[in-house]
Amino acid sequence: MEVSRGFKTDFAWGAATASYQIEGAYDEDGKGLDIWDVFSHTEGKIADDSSGDIACDHYHRYKDDIAIMADLGLKAYRFSVSWSRIQPDGTGAPNEKGIAFYNDLIDELLKYGIEPYMTLYHWDLPYALHLKGGWLNDESPLWFAEYARIIKERFGDRVTHFMTFNEPQVFVGCGCFEGSHAPGYKLAKPELLRIGHNVLKAHGMAVKELRKGKECKIGFAAASCPSIPVSDSAEDIDAARESYFVSDHPAFAFSDAYWADPMVKGKYPEWVTSCKERGVPTITDEDMALISQPIDFIGLNIYNGKYISAAKGGEGNAQGHARTLMGWPVTPAALYWGPKFYHERYGLPIIITENGMSCHDEVSLDGKVHDPNRIDYLTRYLRELKRAAEDGTEIDGYFQWSLMDNYEWAFGYLQRFGMIYVDYATQERIIKDSGHWYKSVIASHGEDL
Ligand code: GCO
Repeated sequence: MEVSRGFKTDFAWGAATASYQIEGAYDEDGKGLDIWDVFSHTEGKIADDSSGDIACDHYHRYKDDIAIMADLGLKAYRFSVSWSRIQPDGTGAPNEKGIAFYNDLIDELLKYGIEPYMTLYHWDLPYALHLKGGWLNDESPLWFAEYARIIKERFGDRVTHFMTFNEPQVFVGCGCFEGSHAPGYKLAKPELLRIGHNVLKAHGMAVKELRKGKECKIGFAAASCPSIPVSDSAEDIDAARESYFVSDHPAFAFSDAYWADPMVKGKYPEWVTSCKERGVPTITDEDMALISQPIDFIGLNIYNGKYISAAKGGEGNAQGHARTLMGWPVTPAALYWGPKFYHERYGLPIIITENGMSCHDEVSLDGKVHDPNRIDYLTRYLRELKRAAEDGTEIDGYFQWSLMDNYEWAFGYLQRFGMIYVDYATQERIIKDSGHWYKSVIASHGEDL
């Protein structure tokens, strides 16, 4: 039997985006407001005082954008649905114009043979639901289930890959613990545990809805900062593995195991169930069965990792370590160890649902956008991912963040993550050097990395 090396034959080579970050048209065709509309319109919340009102105007330009995706040879495209376009108030009858937009988007992708990977929730909670308490409201799992039912009924004939939540770590961690993202809360542990429990139940209910009807693959996308052993010694590897899944600390919302253990193993880390503080949610066996509905893959959004040694614990990053424009360290081995440790612990195929970098991008005098740092970054990370695949970690796909420059949340338009440069004044798109490079990587199926 031929032993396969490197990337699987049907590997999903893709790129990712999210609704609020690219669509614009924030109040068009019946869309309701979402929490990011309100947050970005609040003074002092966004570094450059900008909003996603127009963003990349993808709502009107999706056909041109998909033509570029086809030119790049993308096999798959990960995008998210704006809940308040589908249900302006978050519950009730669907808004047909919002449905029509995603129907057209899906059909256009399929016309070019690009597989849609749909995320149900990439942070833009309908504002009407926020006013009812958002994820703190114990009804919220039911709201999400109703939305998931509409998604499956309307799009499930053509979409076969779904993700329920994108990065609960970040929308709860930054949104409700740190307060740097919408809705801008700084909540205490019992309330965070309640939000977490509702989000987890919402995930389980949505999986049940998505399972109905046509067969499909379902997962979620985690924000993960893998622990990287400083050496290949068994001690360092064990120390890294252990530290990766620790969640018993005040910033637990950002951790991996707090979310993935309930979803995949049907068990919270012990410290959650033994927490007796006033206001913590009641957790029943039925809840855990609901939360741990079988899923088909785990999506990992990985940008960087942290070095761990058995002797010293966290090693930090040495002075002068290479960093992206976000200030994130460049640590390619994160794409080896993250998928490997997750796959070992949860036994599910892994999809890298986001990876990429923000760097200094500008249109040069020759009219092109040269981004050698990004090509170097992506090459190094993809080599590590390939090494993981060759060593037996099951990896089904890789989605570069991002298809195009877009609205980087609290950083506004100050950070450019795209393979496609966007001139926000004219909405002109220019494929960066890294986009051309990615096209050749896809064409060679990762052989010429
Ligand atoms: C993220 C988000 C993206 C970000 C990207 C860069 O999942 O945090 O999915 O929306 O833009 O990660 O920060």
